[in-house]
Amino acid sequence: MTMDLHDYIASIPDFPQPGITFRDITPLLADTKAFGFAIHELAEYANEKGATKIVAPESRGFLLGTPMALEMGVGFVPARKPGKLPRKTISESYTLEYGSATLELNADAIEPGDKVVVVDDLLATGGTIAATNKLIERLGGEVVGLAFLIELTELQGRQVLKDYDIRALLTYE
Ligand code: ADE
Repeated sequence: MTMDLHDYIASIPDFPQPGITFRDITPLLADTKAFGFAIHELAEYANEKGATKIVAPESRGFLLGTPMALEMGVGFVPARKPGKLPRKTISESYTLEYGSATLELNADAIEPGDKVVVVDDLLATGGTIAATNKLIERLGGEVVGLAFLIELTELQGRQVLKDYDIRALLTYE
């Protein structure tokens, strides 16, 4: 089966601010065929890369990463905002357009030799994913691929992530 997933993304002009076209994935999540197809495609990619774990940043990454991991039969690891994980963690801070942000991983979540695919709903500037990759690599994991539903090509995230293999199911300028 094949489907055009563009049909399940809503584009909202000037949200959350003038000049931004927001790509809303909730129509895709609400359609079991489109959602199932997207998860299957992403899981197939991660299997091809030999992934032994799936890591996703909160919160929209969780919506894709957890069903992928279940379909593949591998573990899921959340990358979370600070203060959410109650055990020993490692953290990475990164800069955003305005200000900075931090992500944390459980210190025991990744073991040396793990092959990891990182997944998120949308690739924009790549900052969140670059920080996630660093956390995985600090724990001895190998990032074997990056999987996205949507890539916003204009924002040049591929440049920031040029050392990594990337699969995006949909692209928008
Ligand atoms: N995150 C960053 N840019 C976005 C956009 N245009 N739509 C949805 N999520 C985003």
